[in-house]
Amino acid sequence: RTRIFSGVQPTGHLTLGNYLGAMRRWVEVDQHRAEALFCVVDLHALTVEHDPARLRRLSRQAATLLLAAGLDPELCTVFAQSRVDEHVRLSYLMECTASDGEMRRMIQYKEKAAREQARGGSVRLSLLTYPALMAADILAYGAQEVPVGEDQAQHVELTRDLAVRFNQRYGATFVVPKATHPAVAARVMDLQEPTSKMGKSHARTAGVVYLLDEPEVVRKKVMRAVTDGGSEVVYDREERPGVANLLDVLAACTDGDPERLAEGYSSYGALKKDTAEAVVEMLRPVRSRHAELAADPSAVDAVLRAGAERARAIARPRVDAAYQAMGLLA
Ligand code: TYM
Repeated sequence: RTRIFSGVQPTGHLTLGNYLGAMRRWVEVDQHRAEALFCVVDLHALTVEHDPARLRRLSRQAATLLLAAGLDPELCTVFAQSRVDEHVRLSYLMECTASDGEMRRMIQYKEKAAREQARGGSVRLSLLTYPALMAADILAYGAQEVPVGEDQAQHVELTRDLAVRFNQRYGATFVVPKATHPAVAARVMDLQEPTSKMGKSHARTAGVVYLLDEPEVVRKKVMRAVTDGGSEVVYDREERPGVANLLDVLAACTDGDPERLAEGYSSYGALKKDTAEAVVEMLRPVRSRHAELAADPSAVDAVLRAGAERARAIARPRVDAAYQAMGLLA
């Protein structure tokens, strides 16, 4: 059976980008067709400045949202990264497999490091080594597929390189994984700044739809989305990024095709209105299920604990084998 691994970072409230780029497919497709593991990667959230109480809250909320979105613990494994030591154990071996140059080339590192520096802060060393931990996440489980948004493609590519390199140097240990992306909305853009991706840790939140935003807030954000010069509705990601983004979101919500949808609109206003309603309707059940689950945090925690047990049992033998293969006495 195919094995799948993916994760979400609790650095902020989860967004429409997380949902359309990743979570929705985990729920609708991946958990049904494969042995799937989904992880709240809380260790990754320590790579930028953080507040312990907020991290704890956001990690619980992310886990609750994964279940609210429809991940079923009977079908898949949901857990928190920090509860399975194998991630950190293997991460060190990945740091000893990767080169400094490879890490520095990562777009996410360059962007986030620049952002931290602009804020006057220092850059945590773990921000640089982040991809080693992410590679460990994936390789520890022998996952063949990694369903992610387009922004994670470079990290999965590096994971492949590290797996191949490790196998060549030390003997066949790891499965070489590949990223999979959704057909539409693999990269949801910020509504106010449609040339950059919608991100959960952006300082300006007007262009970011959070999964737990009230319907009125979602409507307002979508209605105020930046559109482009001109007024006809055409699907052109280069020349008309704002409109193309709305068409992508509407298409994703309605299982449509963005180019075909464009033909049905003669004004931006109507497109925004339909997009806003489609997003509100799509998120409605997630919001209400979240409210139910959040009322019983111990049930969510029980899911996470059972998930960590299962995850550990899967990861342990392969990580042990990697230690042996590298020549450690462990
Ligand atoms: P993260 O937490 O930024 O995002 C979680 C998932 O959501 C996708 N995503 C988007 N997709 C489309 N449009 C957007 N605007 C958008 N924003 C986020 C991401 O591509 C991702 O699939 N490094 C990862 C977390 C991670 C991971 C892993 C993923 C750690 N270890 C192992 C897969 C496998 C991250 O920061 O995702």
